[in-house]
Amino acid sequence: MNVFHIVGARPNFMKVAPVMSALKTRKHVVQSLIHTGQHYDANMSDVFFEELGIPAPDVNLAVGSGSHARQTAEIMSRLEPVLLDGKPDIVLVYGDVNSTVAAALVCAKLGVRVGHVEAGLRSFDRTMPEEINRLVTDQLADLLFTPSEDGDVNLQKEGIPADRIFRVGNVMIDSLVKLLPVAQRQNRNGLPERYTERYALVTLHRPANVDDGVILKRILQSLLEVSQDLSVIFPAHPRTRQRIADFGLHADQLQVLDPLPYLEFLGMQSRATVVITDSGGIQEEATYLGVPCLTLRENTERPITVSLGTNVLVGRDPDKLRSELSRVLAGKGKKGTIPPLWDGHAGERIAALLAG
Ligand code: UD1
Repeated sequence: MNVFHIVGARPNFMKVAPVMSALKTRKHVVQSLIHTGQHYDANMSDVFFEELGIPAPDVNLAVGSGSHARQTAEIMSRLEPVLLDGKPDIVLVYGDVNSTVAAALVCAKLGVRVGHVEAGLRSFDRTMPEEINRLVTDQLADLLFTPSEDGDVNLQKEGIPADRIFRVGNVMIDSLVKLLPVAQRQNRNGLPERYTERYALVTLHRPANVDDGVILKRILQSLLEVSQDLSVIFPAHPRTRQRIADFGLHADQLQVLDPLPYLEFLGMQSRATVVITDSGGIQEEATYLGVPCLTLRENTERPITVSLGTNVLVGRDPDKLRSELSRVLAGKGKKGTIPPLWDGHAGERIAALLAG
């Protein structure tokens, strides 16, 4: 059985690692890894391969950045010959980035079977590029591997036959479960003193939050307020750093860092007083770790992190951020539970479904 995995952007890497590792134990499976090159900086890509133990890609399409249409089209036209040449029996795509939808489209047109890992998530907000990617990918996929029950429900409402849907749990949590002890060891030894204080760990990169100067300025002001109560550690996505510079904004009181490697970020997340983010995956990681998460978005495609986990949607309302932060600082932050099947074995369940 010839399996191709397509990845391209940072949040794909912690998802592919456990699936590849589980499939490696099946003798009749041959795997190839294609990196689209959507993310290309060493600290957005290479370091994740090293730390997660992912083999070097067999092919790198090196598409780089561009508008959505350009990037998606480049991935499609560069991937097509690779699939024609490699003749995979199945292609696995991950998450909701442009690489995911581009690969699913190429496969669908070539008649190659596609499995979507992390299927069924919906924010019901079509202004998010990821929501378009999710909707299209799930319509095209032959096998849909969902992380939680809401995923199954969403897919069935969209007319996906039940026999294509497999609730396997959360593959990203597989990587977390495996590497948390390593991350915590590494952090204890290697961290500057300031990281051992109480701190808020912040990430920010959604276009809706960072591409508008007025909105970004307001968020930075809120974070400045947060920094009066506890230190704010802010590993910034390159896009966010660029926007802060473009709009002539300042974040001097915040500890703005380059994007962090997986292990360092995970270790810091596990010991944070609070996480403030607009990421999808971090809402899930914080839920697993039991760390209060204040999400700077009006909606989430991961509602289980709100219903069962530690996540609170504060949107862009500075008052809500203030009041939720006070609760956390008073020791009254949201206590959650770990959702079913977020147990470190989702990759193994996918491998069993694919290859017995
Ligand atoms: C992408 C995903 C998003 C995911 C995020 C995680 C889509 C539509 N978006 O957003 O879902 O949450 O990755 O990081 O696929 N850049 C660099 N170096 C890099 C990569 C990007 O400097 O290695 C800069 C470039 O200026 C680029 C910008 O970041 O134009 C945006 O990159 P892009 O891949 O288009 O989207 P992300 O914002 O990273």
